[in-house]
Order: sequence, then C-alpha cells, then structure tokens
Amino acid sequence: MKRPYVIDELITAKAIAARIEELSKEIKDEFDGTDKLIVVGLLRGSFIFIADLVRELDMPVEVDFLEASSYGDEIESSREVRILKDLRGTIEGRDVLVVEDIVDTGFTLSHVVSLLASRKPARIKSIALLDKPTRREISIKADWTGFEIPDEFVVGYGIDYAQRNRNLGYIGTVRFN
Ligand code: IMP
Repeated sequence: MKRPYVIDELITAKAIAARIEELSKEIKDEFDGTDKLIVVGLLRGSFIFIADLVRELDMPVEVDFLEASSYGDEIESSREVRILKDLRGTIEGRDVLVVEDIVDTGFTLSHVVSLLASRKPARIKSIALLDKPTRREISIKADWTGFEIPDEFVVGYGIDYAQRNRNLGYIGTVRFN
C-alpha cells in the first residue's frame, strides 16, 4: 500500500541534460574507433537515460535491454537479483556499456556485470545516472556516474515509486507525509 507523499525537485532536467553531454564525450573517447559497441539498458529505470545518452553518442551503437528484479513496490532492496528478461543478442567479443539508473546497495550492478562478463565481451564498462554511495553493501562503482546523491528515495526521469512518476522530466526526492 502506497503511503501519501510529495516530491521535492533534486536534479533539474537542464542539469541532467548538461551532465549527459559531458558523460557522452568521455564515453566516445573510451570507445573511440570501435564499431562493435552494444549499450545495454537495465529495465525499467534506465529507459529515459539510455534514450538521451545514445542520442549524444554519434558513433555506431546497438541497443539491447536486460531486466533484473528490482524493489517491486517496496522502497528497500530485496538483495536477491534475478534476471527477468535477458538480452536478445550475443555479446561475445563485443564492447558493452551497461546503463543503470541508480547504484544503491550495488547488488544489481554487481550481479549484471559479472553475468555479462562471463559471456566474454571484449570490454565491459558501466554507467549509472545516480549513485548513493552511503548505501553500498557490495563494493562496486560504475565507470561513470552522473550524480552522487544522499540516501533519499528518488523518482522521475525513468525512475519509479510503485511504478509511478517515471514520466517526470527531473529527479525528485520522495517525502512521505
Ligand atoms: P541496488 O541493487 O540496491 O544497487 O539497487 C538498484 C536498483 O534499485 C535500481 O536500479 C533501482 O531500480 C532501484 N532503486 C534504488 N534506489 C532507488 C530509489 O531511490 N528510487 C527508485 N528505485 C531505486
């Protein structure tokens, strides 16, 4: 059962766009000259981030998606990661960029990166729009991070609370009444 809440703006749409422009330059430098990059979005929270990110990458890219189990309707991690939807294509010998919305405890990114690494890609890197370093339970850091944020539950820009608020253009914190 969802409790009543309000949303306070934390990161504006403009700040997100500016940061994505910066990050995309670093990603283009890292993958300069490759024609075998697959950008893997973790569903569902990264769908808006990946859409904006790939449009800044003026280089050959393929896009695929993977869905790992998430919080469900809760605001606490289950700490058990299951793959609900796997990639369509093979990544062996390819360059892979995993795109995550938030690194929180770190279980999801750690599990997904190990799983994909076992499929023998040429190179595997990761990017997270948001990072909550104080929540980490597994030692992992994305190769690129958009913003470090405090230990607050956030929504917007693809990120939900009980499936709502993904369609906000900005990132906001959820404050329960
Ligand atoms: P982790 O496995 O604990 O690192 O959690 C990663 C996933 O939990 C993210 O991909 C999100 O789907 C979800 N998550 C973590 N923090 C938040 C939040 O503040 N709002 C909404 N979802 C979150």
